[in-house]
Amino acid sequence: MVKLVDTTDLKSVDPNPVVPVQVRPSAPTADTGDLMTSLQNPTHNQFQLLHSISSILTSTLNLKDTLSNIFSLLEDHIELKKGVLILRDSYTDEYYIEIGYGLTEKDRRKSIFKLLEILTTQVLDSNQVAIIDELKSGIYDVPFDDDEEMPGHSLTCLPIILGDEKIGTLSVVIPRTVDEIQDRLNLLSTVCLLIAQEIKLKKLLEMEKEALRRENVLLRDELKEKYNIHNMIGNSNAMHQVYESIIQVANSNATVLIRGESGTGKELVAHAIHYNSPRASKPFIKINCGAIPETLIESELFGYEKGAFTDAQESKMGKFEAANGGTIFLDEIGELTPQVQVKLLRVLQEKEVERVGGLKPIKINVRVVTATHRDLETELEAKRFREDLYYRLNVFPIFLPPLKERKTDTLLLAEHFLDKFSKENSKTITRISSLAIDLLTSYQWPGNVRELENCMERAVLVCRTDTIQATDLPATLQRSDTSSTVSGDLSYDELISNFERELIIDALKKTKGNKSRAADLLKTTQRIIGYKIQNLNIDYGKYKGRV
Ligand SMILES: Nc1ncnc2c1ncn2[C@@H]1O[C@H](COP(=O)(O)OP(=O)(O)OP(=O)(O)O)[C@@H](O)[C@H]1O
Ligand SMILES: [Mg+2]
Repeated sequence: MVKLVDTTDLKSVDPNPVVPVQVRPSAPTADTGDLMTSLQNPTHNQFQLLHSISSILTSTLNLKDTLSNIFSLLEDHIELKKGVLILRDSYTDEYYIEIGYGLTEKDRRKSIFKLLEILTTQVLDSNQVAIIDELKSGIYDVPFDDDEEMPGHSLTCLPIILGDEKIGTLSVVIPRTVDEIQDRLNLLSTVCLLIAQEIKLKKLLEMEKEALRRENVLLRDELKEKYNIHNMIGNSNAMHQVYESIIQVANSNATVLIRGESGTGKELVAHAIHYNSPRASKPFIKINCGAIPETLIESELFGYEKGAFTDAQESKMGKFEAANGGTIFLDEIGELTPQVQVKLLRVLQEKEVERVGGLKPIKINVRVVTATHRDLETELEAKRFREDLYYRLNVFPIFLPPLKERKTDTLLLAEHFLDKFSKENSKTITRISSLAIDLLTSYQWPGNVRELENCMERAVLVCRTDTIQATDLPATLQRSDTSSTVSGDLSYDELISNFERELIIDALKKTKGNKSRAADLLKTTQRIIGYKIQNLNIDYGKYKGRV
């Protein structure tokens, strides 16, 4: 890192330099107008040079290689002997040497850099070009190579400025005297402009990359938190068994087979296994084997080499490679074709994949988690699923019971989704009426947790009070054969009475047993409420003082 010397120190270094230093307006300054001027009247040579530099800049070399190639072009075209690019570190505001070209050991030892520091400050502060004529040893006490006095050569230090931003300086030693250098200034300033834009672009890309990297870390942390087992809802014995299984298996590399009806939470469990495992900071790649056309599944899973088939213009890595170090989640594993089943078996055995059209296998380190809602044993019997693959996958099975078999969880889940969707929709719905609870807990939930989730989302949207009423629930629940409330056992009048009772109890709960305020809430009279309380046999005293 170059230590900057204040410009006033320039005088103290050498008030009467042996060699005259001329500072003149930088011509042209770095804006596109000047670029156009220099491109409109270039000599053929200059035009060619700028064209070559542009080509280098558009190639994907790193900055140091790019600059080194540019210096080399300047050497060919304008006999550049030495070149130094100094850049400003935007974090520390200090200048540092990005690259030196054609410098000898002595140059480095004798510190040409000290001179360049001084010039850098000077030219950037003044936005002028500094030219030192007739390089001889002794200049500022910081000569180039002692043995290599360079009469007829001059050092030119040009500012690299883009808009308001001082990016750095470009210094070149070329065989020209101060008077002759003018014809090179336009060209060199244009080169500075091109370099400035390149550096700006690279910096922006780097900043973007860094921002993405940080975002990625944050998202991963969020996912880790989201898929923490403690955030899974359910207090039933069956769910406790599931949590225990996740904890047991997460730390290992064992292959897991998650089974359960549609919507029971299989994907959630797969995520929980990954984000609670040592692979949490590596990728979690999901692939739905049932959703990808048969013809594509193989190349999706294992990738392909360029030219493997007509559309394979480029090589592409498959999901297994993409998941390297992490977990691959093969959802709907029961849908795999026999051909892919064989390949998958090989991957699990060999721990390597072969791209379609590829010649050599690629080693992978991937944890495999699979899921299915199918009865795999029936698939085995029907010879639609390979037995050997079944045993490979079924190392550690986890069963998710249907929601109808864990009624105690239904209410917990309903409340969880109520809270989630109320927040999402900026509503303050805090309760579920007793009648609605009856409907929720007596319904069969063929779509399991996903259906309950959708049902609660809809209920939150249609609900106009702070309580989910039975009427906010979908008609399927109200018609449910198994609903004890609307089961056919009760008459129409009894159902209405139940509903009325529900409304009044909710109002009494909210008003802590205050009949008059409950009547206001229900937009009726205290007399009617009193009458109903008596008729419906509601013990309103029970709600006094209770929230
Ligand atoms: N125990 C749970 N706690 C909280 N949310 C849950 C729970 N189980 C499932 N869910 C939610 O229910 C929805 C369905 O779960 P998931 O997608 O994991 O089910 P699935 O078994 O993979 O379904 P499918 O077989 O249809 O793919 C998801 O939004 C999930 O977050
Ligand atoms: Mg799923």
